[in-house]
Amino acid sequence: MSNLAVQIRQARQEDAAKIAQVYIDSWHDTYPGVLPTALLCAMTSKGQTARWLATIRAQGRESVLVADSSDEGIVGMASLGPARDGSLGFDGEVYTLYVDPSYYGRGIGRALLQNAFLTLRKQGMTSCLIWAHAHNYARYFYEAMGGRLVAERSAMLMGEKVPECAFGWKTLALAERSPAR
Ligand SMILES: CC(C)(COP(=O)(O)OP(=O)(O)OC[C@H]1O[C@@H](n2cnc3c(N)ncnc32)[C@H](O)[C@@H]1OP(=O)(O)O)[C@@H](O)C(=O)NCCC(=O)NCCS
Repeated sequence: MSNLAVQIRQARQEDAAKIAQVYIDSWHDTYPGVLPTALLCAMTSKGQTARWLATIRAQGRESVLVADSSDEGIVGMASLGPARDGSLGFDGEVYTLYVDPSYYGRGIGRALLQNAFLTLRKQGMTSCLIWAHAHNYARYFYEAMGGRLVAERSAMLMGEKVPECAFGWKTLALAERSPAR
């Protein structure tokens, strides 16, 4: 499928509800059978809208980007900032990266990650880390983007053990696109 033309830009307060929708839709598509059902059921549009509105308003350590298509509106989001665990040797981190499931495979994830790296660089960072659920197919996306598996850990979510792995980029550059197949 062809890439969708999107503009990657900083999120504005009026984007919060649409960001929340993309985030929830992507979680509901990705995590059933992977993350605790109670966690997925507990996500509400109101709660997520409030969360993203507060993050955008705060203009703090977490920056929020959106992928905005002139025809389709917001079809993806990412958030980023300083690494939460500096001991791994990476100074920047992409905290979240979610594409609307209707638009997977159309170049939006790559465009968001590329711009997340540009934003980190503007903020003075030189490398990047991303944590993912160990059973999430996103790990193959990160490998395709040049990320290397650099750490593994176990987190607890709603009383369930969740295996996670971290992908790292020592420089803020993505792997080139693979040749046309
Ligand atoms: C993972 C995700 C962000 C990727 O975004 P996307 O828009 O679907 O990916 P793109 O179309 O930009 O793909 C870029 C490249 O990665 C490859 N790729 C994407 N997903 C892949 C996968 N699951 N396995 C292997 N390769 C993958 C594509 O083939 C493409 O390669 P190319 O540029 O050489 O042709 C998106 O699918 C998503 O939101 N998934 C669900 C939520 C999620 O898991 N987020 C990450 C949380 S840690």
